[in-house]
Amino acid sequence: MIYFDNASTTRMSDEAFEYMCSFIKENYANPSSLHSFGFEAEKELDKARKAVAAVIGSDAEEIYFTSGGTEANNTAVLGAASAYGRLGRRVITSSIEHPSVADSFKELEKRGFEVITLGVDEKGYIDTDELLNAVNEDTILVSIMCVNNEFGTVQDIEKIYSAVKGKNRNCIFHTDCVQAFCKHDISCRNADIITMSAHKINASKGVGAMYIKKGVRVNNLHFGGGQEKGFRPGTENTYAIASMGRAAELALENMADNFKHVGEVRKTLLSITDELDNVYVNGDAENGSPYILNLSFENVKGEVLLHALESEGIYAATGAACSSRTKEKKKIVDRLNDGRGKSAVRFSFSAENTVEEAERTVECLKRLVPQLRRFVPR
Ligand SMILES: Cc1ncc(COP(=O)(O)O)c(C=O)c1O
Repeated sequence: MIYFDNASTTRMSDEAFEYMCSFIKENYANPSSLHSFGFEAEKELDKARKAVAAVIGSDAEEIYFTSGGTEANNTAVLGAASAYGRLGRRVITSSIEHPSVADSFKELEKRGFEVITLGVDEKGYIDTDELLNAVNEDTILVSIMCVNNEFGTVQDIEKIYSAVKGKNRNCIFHTDCVQAFCKHDISCRNADIITMSAHKINASKGVGAMYIKKGVRVNNLHFGGGQEKGFRPGTENTYAIASMGRAAELALENMADNFKHVGEVRKTLLSITDELDNVYVNGDAENGSPYILNLSFENVKGEVLLHALESEGIYAATGAACSSRTKEKKKIVDRLNDGRGKSAVRFSFSAENTVEEAERTVECLKRLVPQLRRFVPR
């Protein structure tokens, strides 16, 4: 099997798995328990917190664990708007955010906020001048993702953050770094709130984290316990959190090497654009994230090609897994180039992929795409 669907989720690494298993066996205590067994479990949480903090350069106390990226994004947007809603009513986001951000903004609209949604250019970049024009004294929150999960465009978060703060230093800036965490260089210096997820970094599903800068207020959405300083009550998923910590340690150690390696895999697959006519890159072919390559094969339905690839043992996606069950006809890719979405296939990589796998995929595509194009009515 060739697994090129790592933006949906990744295989848990052997190290993270073994670490998690030993913890399940040896320490099942509730970290809130006052006995030493509970204290040991709490120490594991702290260790994982430090490991996550190290990746973004924050203090461990600024990291809060959640049930995943979705909850972290919901909490960031709704919680910050709730905390600062008395100071202003304008909130800003982009048109290419993950549904966990986009739908939170829809909810804010229902609650009477003025939502400004910025468009993107044909490579998926927001226009910083447009953003600056939108930020005013009434703006309390801006949320712009770092790496887009569908086509891998990487926004210049440092530039965006300083632009927002330059215009209104009280405005809170949130960035969804689920696809960037442990893959791209992200720093807590360039955001007030950052969201992250474990299952995109070869750790367990069902756990994520939020960085909240000291002094920034985010109202909690859950009630009923003192865990995570009362911000995210509920008994912690200690095993999954431990796997996230271990995976973050490993990823930090190997971040530069992994980045280079997946870059080679992506480059090899990108060579299909020289081999076949009318294959287009959605996003930024040159400067996009090396972890994601989204291609449109003209006159071939993405879903049909996906299944043809599957019959060869190659697993890719037509877009985000979370959108695959929605009725929405248009894909996020259509916001870059209208009409490209229906023929789009997303290939997404992890350090476990090889250049040979990309070469084999290129060979399969060279054979399959012309075959499928023959069925297009003239
Ligand atoms: C950019 C982005 N944000 C948020 C999420 C949601 O994360 P989770 O699956 O941990 O809820 C995803 C998952 O695909 C994502 O790609």
